[in-house]
Amino acid sequence: MTTSNNVVWHHATVTRSRREQMNGHKGAILWFTGLSGAGKSTIAHAVEEQLHQSGCRTFVLDGDNVRHGLCEDLGFSPEDRTENIRRIGEMVKLFLEAGIIVLTAFISPIRHDRERVRSLVRTDDFIEIYCRCPLGVCEDRDVKGLYHQARLGKIKEFTGISSPYEAPEKPELILDTNVWPLDECASKVMALLSQRGIIRK
Ligand code: ADX
Repeated sequence: MTTSNNVVWHHATVTRSRREQMNGHKGAILWFTGLSGAGKSTIAHAVEEQLHQSGCRTFVLDGDNVRHGLCEDLGFSPEDRTENIRRIGEMVKLFLEAGIIVLTAFISPIRHDRERVRSLVRTDDFIEIYCRCPLGVCEDRDVKGLYHQARLGKIKEFTGISSPYEAPEKPELILDTNVWPLDECASKVMALLSQRGIIRK
């Protein structure tokens, strides 16, 4: 671990609130969590599309793209998953300072790891959205064919099969993705954003 000794934080004159004023909306972290195949990325992109069309500054980060770059050195052991979420947490904090609505789609299976990200930012900034979908449904969908591989033992430590998923206790929003269609899930997220004053009604 490196230290931050002799490193002085440089304060910007262009602040988050000035950026938000220019953007016409607030910055926020929409933290989607849930099993692989629960719909996190799909919903995040659908919400982003709507936000973008109404002129908001947004960005989606998901497991499959971040793990090709920033976190390419990490696997799926408990330690690596924790480090994955720690790095992403620091990154989304910067996006927030930039006044952006950042949508993250990581399994983020460990409650404590998610809570640590929450604790990095102001209470209102972190919106945890639980994509709740029974394992059996995710497994039937098996969009990437990974559950099948995991059942065969070809992928170790697979979330829901051989590695735990800790559901959020008090998420800001629960989406039952096996019950509600995509547009309804996206609408619920949009409604929450306007209710919380992140975007204009
Ligand atoms: S997390 O647990 O560290 O939050 P992350 O969201 O970055 O996971 O990556 C999950 C994606 O990696 C899954 O959607 C899947 O495509 C892929 N993957 C590969 N191996 C595993 C595994 N052992 N467990 C879960 N997902 C895996």
